[in-house]
Amino acid sequence: MTDAERRAEPLLSLRTWLDRVAETGELGHVSGAHWDLELGAIAELSYRRPRPKALLFDEIPGYDKGLRVLTGSTGSSRRLGHTLRLADGPADLSGMDDAALVAALRGKPSQWAARAADFPVLEVNDAPLLENTVEGPDVDLTAFPVPRWHGLDGGRFIGTGCFVVTSDPETGAVNGGCYRMQIQNDGRTATINAVPGKHGAQNIARWFEREGRAPVTVSFGHDPVLLVTGGTEVPAGISELDYTGAILGERVPVLRGTATGLPIPAGSEFALEGWLRQDLACDEGPFGEWTGYYSASRRPVPALDIARVHFRNDCIQLGAPPGKPPHDYSYMRTAMKSAMIQDELVRAGVQGINAAWAHEAGGGRLFVVVSLTQRYAGHARQVAHLTAQGPAAAYMNRYAVVVDDDIDPSNLEEVVWAMSTRTDPARDIDVIDRTWGSKLDPMLEEGAPPFNSRAVIDACRPFERLAGFPEVSQSDPAFLRSVAEKWCDALS
Ligand SMILES: Cc1cc2nc3c(=O)[nH]c(=O)nc-3n(C[C@H](O)[C@H](O)[C@H](O)COP(=O)(O)O)c2cc1C
Repeated sequence: MTDAERRAEPLLSLRTWLDRVAETGELGHVSGAHWDLELGAIAELSYRRPRPKALLFDEIPGYDKGLRVLTGSTGSSRRLGHTLRLADGPADLSGMDDAALVAALRGKPSQWAARAADFPVLEVNDAPLLENTVEGPDVDLTAFPVPRWHGLDGGRFIGTGCFVVTSDPETGAVNGGCYRMQIQNDGRTATINAVPGKHGAQNIARWFEREGRAPVTVSFGHDPVLLVTGGTEVPAGISELDYTGAILGERVPVLRGTATGLPIPAGSEFALEGWLRQDLACDEGPFGEWTGYYSASRRPVPALDIARVHFRNDCIQLGAPPGKPPHDYSYMRTAMKSAMIQDELVRAGVQGINAAWAHEAGGGRLFVVVSLTQRYAGHARQVAHLTAQGPAAAYMNRYAVVVDDDIDPSNLEEVVWAMSTRTDPARDIDVIDRTWGSKLDPMLEEGAPPFNSRAVIDACRPFERLAGFPEVSQSDPAFLRSVAEKWCDALS
């Protein structure tokens, strides 16, 4: 991209984001992969690699060159750091590893929430998004290379990395969220599956009560910061567009949807607006979810009466398919949750918290580890219970583990070693029943209410035995470092 091209791009343009990521060497290109399973499989193979790149798919069979799909956008510390504007430029990102990312994120989510009101959206009249418009009866979502991601998926899911805008019918307050969307009726419509309780689902339910339909706009291609803000629990009452403005330090430009009056990010590649209608329900799913399972069965879900689809020439979809972790956005969830859980514990006034890690293997929710420096009897158990039930981790947590400060909570080998050697299971595992679960839980019996239970595991050395607990049999770290230097040839 030339400087002039970069300047012409609206804020939240995915093209500007890609241009910067390409500079860091973290963007791969794939030509010719089929939208039906092949593209999803290539993305999945990539997530399993140690340092997965973002992948931009082009020349998708059956579609014109230029109609592209991006996956893996937030799958590395450097890309996520760039996306959340935690660094000034590529040079600043080079040292950003997992720990540095979470350290840079600490305190940010609450600061962004506090500053969101200073960044109301900025209405504009024009954007590259308006290069092409298709009206209701002519809409065909299969005109875009929408993937079928996994073999047992019930169809093609256009909404994975999407940003769905809804509003409160009484106050007009706007919400942005990320919910799965399946193409239905040969491309004429799509279902939106927001889980009850999510702010977007609450808005939709209120509109349904009043009018039997709910206005909605959806962006399918944008700077992945909207995937993070739409897909993360932003406090109720704060618009994710204003929150995004606080991250960027600039007001987000939006077009006003003429059929719905709702905002559409002007930086979008591809967006629609319409009315979600109860009476247009279509059978939806199954869809491989972030737990790694096809948990919920196929069932009717409200579908859209699409008024209009807008798209740029050569538009790019942002894909973010879940699945058995590591999946497309599990790293993002891990980093965000790890910072938010640590922030919450510190804000609660608990001392001695060193680090938290919400493991990717548990989709960033199911298995959370916190390391602490024990200061008093009961301290470890207090931290463990607060972690398991604090708002940042309460939804669908299954295991909350606390470890001493010599254990790196992000290192599963160390965590399992601590659990294996510093617990007496009869005494150190508390089980809390009837906690906040989900219909997505593969352990939930069909038709049962979505409670779960959770184990709180105190894998810290017993406080009363801290002084006399057996010493760890390993060399002094400083001595190890000096030996490693002296014997580097032998060790290489
Ligand atoms: C890629 C991605 C896909 C998601 N899919 C869904 C989904 O299908 N349904 C849902 O309710 N939540 C889904 N989520 C989680 C919600 O986006 C998340 O809980 C968000 O905070 C909801 O926002 P809201 O409470 O403002 O509605 C997804 C998140 C991401 C990142």
